[in-house]
Amino acid sequence: MRSLKTASNPAAIANPSPPPYEPQKKTPKYKSFEVYRWNPDRPTEKPILKTFKVDLNACGPMVLDALIKIKNEQDSTLTFRRSCREGICGSCAMNIGGINTLACIARIDPDISKPLKIYPLPHMNIIKDLVPDLTHFYKQYKSIEPYLKQRTSPPPDRENLQSIEDRDKLNGLYECILCACCSTSCPSYWWNQEEYLGPAVLLHSYRWMVDSRDQYGKERRERLQDKMSLYRCHTILNCSKTCPKGLQPGKAIQRIKMLMATE
Ligand code: SF4
Ligand code: SF4
Ligand code: FES
Repeated sequence: MRSLKTASNPAAIANPSPPPYEPQKKTPKYKSFEVYRWNPDRPTEKPILKTFKVDLNACGPMVLDALIKIKNEQDSTLTFRRSCREGICGSCAMNIGGINTLACIARIDPDISKPLKIYPLPHMNIIKDLVPDLTHFYKQYKSIEPYLKQRTSPPPDRENLQSIEDRDKLNGLYECILCACCSTSCPSYWWNQEEYLGPAVLLHSYRWMVDSRDQYGKERRERLQDKMSLYRCHTILNCSKTCPKGLQPGKAIQRIKMLMATE
């Protein structure tokens, strides 16, 4: 039988119940974030870098955590895109500390002596603050017809089959989340983006060329047979260095060129 902890029970007085748990408060550790700001409602005002101080001991570990904290607690007008917060949707792409990457999977450097500079993706028109205008980028993506094209439909009673070896050819391509980090790091794309398709779109073009179920590979390549769409790539490989998903769009472009050279 349990003993009652009363004044008449000396054991209960000797061992009082512990005080309620209170998490230890850590000393604040402030880091400066210098964030690009531009407001389309004041078009004559030049863009500025605005400094925000964030306590790293009261913030999640990623740059997106800091941006959300700034927006929630310091300046609700700060504008940026985000959705999945796990490197899947591609919407939080921006230039962080000089590198195009995804804010949700970029860890904050804990060194508080170094401010972190955050800009939108480079060489793009800006809608507001960290939000670039991707209209042309998506138009280019649409132009390569990024879907399965077949002359003959598969039999109606079974799936569109593919061997394991053919499926493996899509690895390193299908994972692209169209974040545009690669295209906006490419000098050829910076200067010729009206006509040059850029690494992200070309990677997708190659993805459909090597899909064993697609029957329009030759036509897809013929559409790239001009001076600008593909051949503005000078194999500088900024694109492969910056891809936050570890893909190699530069290599995909080389493979398209090889296919075109042998046709
Ligand atoms: S390899 Fe081609 S696509 Fe990639 S950065 Fe260089 S020029 Fe641009
Ligand atoms: S190849 Fe990489 S950097 Fe380029 S759009 Fe795809 S995921 Fe982003
Ligand atoms: S929020 Fe989706 S990739 Fe960063």
